[in-house]
Amino acid sequence: MLRRLHPEQPESFAFTPENQAWAEGQMTKYPEGRQASAIIPILWRAQEQEGWLSKPAIEHVADMLGLSYIRALEVATFYFMFQLQPVGKIAHIQVCGTTSCMICGAEDLVAVCKEKIAPNAHELSADGNFSWEEVECLGSCSNAPMAQIGKDYYEDLTADRMGEIIDELAAGKVPVPGPQNGRYAAEPLKGLTSLTEYDSGKTQYNASAQLAVDIGDTVKRIDGTEVPLLMPWQKGANHNASPTKPAKAAGKAPRKAGASSDKSAEVPGSKAKAAARPAADVPQAEPEKLSAPREGGADDLKRIKGVGPKLEKMLNGIGIYHFDQVAAWTPEHVAWADQNLVGFKGRVSRDNWVAQAIVLAAED
Ligand code: FES
Repeated sequence: MLRRLHPEQPESFAFTPENQAWAEGQMTKYPEGRQASAIIPILWRAQEQEGWLSKPAIEHVADMLGLSYIRALEVATFYFMFQLQPVGKIAHIQVCGTTSCMICGAEDLVAVCKEKIAPNAHELSADGNFSWEEVECLGSCSNAPMAQIGKDYYEDLTADRMGEIIDELAAGKVPVPGPQNGRYAAEPLKGLTSLTEYDSGKTQYNASAQLAVDIGDTVKRIDGTEVPLLMPWQKGANHNASPTKPAKAAGKAPRKAGASSDKSAEVPGSKAKAAARPAADVPQAEPEKLSAPREGGADDLKRIKGVGPKLEKMLNGIGIYHFDQVAAWTPEHVAWADQNLVGFKGRVSRDNWVAQAIVLAAED
């Protein structure tokens, strides 16, 4: 498939201040002079914000990373996950057309998209709300046929259910992602035949499906205000309801389409240097502990992504029982936990427990 920039381009692109701060945080993950390594997550963030990658967006990212435009364009045009044309305002639907899904009815799903959205892939619906495409295997073959809509998978689909999902999205609803035939995950249709002890204690829906339901999200564009996801060493990371003040580059004028690249521009790595600080260098401080759970019992810490039964037991063992305890951790506490949860080094910052705990504590 020929992947070229769309003939119609917006005048300019700018990250929201929160997304700009997030993107600059990504750049601090890499050694000085290697900031170009952050290109894929930053291009992806631009796409999460706008729905697709415009020429000004690609140029903006190239400028941030000190790259010539052609280098950023090569990345954007190489990976099919980057959309190079406008997508539906509500949703872009990616129907898997590979073997398992094809055998199980993917062509029927594509027919629904053609009928309800537009006759051709990558074509906007008449109201501009939807678009679709056929993609290669999305790794959910045991739940075929399936489609990715926004950030989530809709699995075990039928043509009828596909049509309903599009109607629900058009009506402003967020259909529950995951299997659509009553399965919890990819277990046998007739139920579990092994590991049945794990049947109890599970959330209503599976994994990301539960999270999508909890936050009412699956197709929402990301402007960075959802949960501040900054690097632990960035000032104020993950502890404020509002993200940190964006770094200097956030104040730059939006990238104009066709504007020339300033090759003498400061290499972003040098801007990021002051903020870049290996997590191991952050002073450590032990977080506040409790001798026992408060009245009402301990929170289910396994709801924090990345925390399993073993880590939960370990946390309880050191006096951490509640989401609000984790939500209150400072970068020093995170550094301590990153170093002292034996066997899970770095897990706290990697999975951004604090940001997750803030959301979970607010729900409870
Ligand atoms: S074949 Fe469709 S998800 Fe693998």
